[in-house]
Amino acid sequence: MSLTTMSSLNISLRDETFRQLRDIIYEKSGIFIPDNKKYFLENKLIRRIQEKNFNSFEDYLYLIRYGSNGNELSALFDLVTTNETFFFREPLQFDILFEYILPEISRSKGNNNFKIWSAACSTGEEPYTIVMIKSEKKPDMKIEVYASDISEGVISTAKKGIYYSYSVRNIPETYIKKYFKQNGQGFELDNAIKSSVRFLNINLTDEKKMRSMYDFDVIFCRNVLIYFDDKAKQKVVSLLYNSIRPGGYLITGSTESLHNVTRAFKPVVINKAIVYRRT
Ligand SMILES: C[S@@+](CC[C@H](N)C(=O)[O-])C[C@H]1O[C@@H](n2cnc3c(N)ncnc32)[C@H](O)[C@@H]1O
Repeated sequence: MSLTTMSSLNISLRDETFRQLRDIIYEKSGIFIPDNKKYFLENKLIRRIQEKNFNSFEDYLYLIRYGSNGNELSALFDLVTTNETFFFREPLQFDILFEYILPEISRSKGNNNFKIWSAACSTGEEPYTIVMIKSEKKPDMKIEVYASDISEGVISTAKKGIYYSYSVRNIPETYIKKYFKQNGQGFELDNAIKSSVRFLNINLTDEKKMRSMYDFDVIFCRNVLIYFDDKAKQKVVSLLYNSIRPGGYLITGSTESLHNVTRAFKPVVINKAIVYRRT
């Protein structure tokens, strides 16, 4: 058992309490924290416990279970999620979207109107990248862009639209000049781009909320399935399947294969990248 020491707090996360907290996180979000990551949860929670003036992890567990009408669960999601993202991440996937996938869908639908969802968008770089490329390269397309995350904290950062060097480092210079205003150390995104994305708080394992998202031409669900175990992956991928119209596509992170997760989608190789088509 490890011991966490802070100035006025000297408490440890007992194995049994760890397991109970871990199971609640898994049950509510699909995020699975293995036994060897106990220190991760302990480090994330200790500050919160101090903020709450609690004396033990058991007090915190009690709050999560019975005490906060779900509000603390939202704070807990903010703490345990990994939100790494940046603009123009895996740019080949955006090329494929605009040069192959949307033209193909347009031919089959007979129009240029699309619905795209960045599911697990973190601080917004992914959906905003889509909107900027559309505005730059395909102004004749009409795209409704939805973006969602389980963490309220990242959604509120996304809505502000102010970014720093790590996040903007891959943005081509022409886009920086056209779509951002430098503001001290920060880069503030143009209002027209910001207002083109509808942000929502959606837990990908929440069947009711997932049912409200339907008829999408393309869903980006990148770099989030890695935090789930196989069972949760299967559940989320099958809910995403229902949210995509026949002929639409699911795009995962390039290292996340659906090979052992589902046979429902048809893997399609475009320019050496794999994307998943709903048949
Ligand atoms: C590493 S970020 C990926 C961001 C972006 N898609 C990208 O690839 O750059 C993973 C995001 O998934 C979100 N997430 C984790 N579990 C989730 C769940 N059950 N439902 C919705 N979002 C979740 C996290 O809050 C985090 O912002």
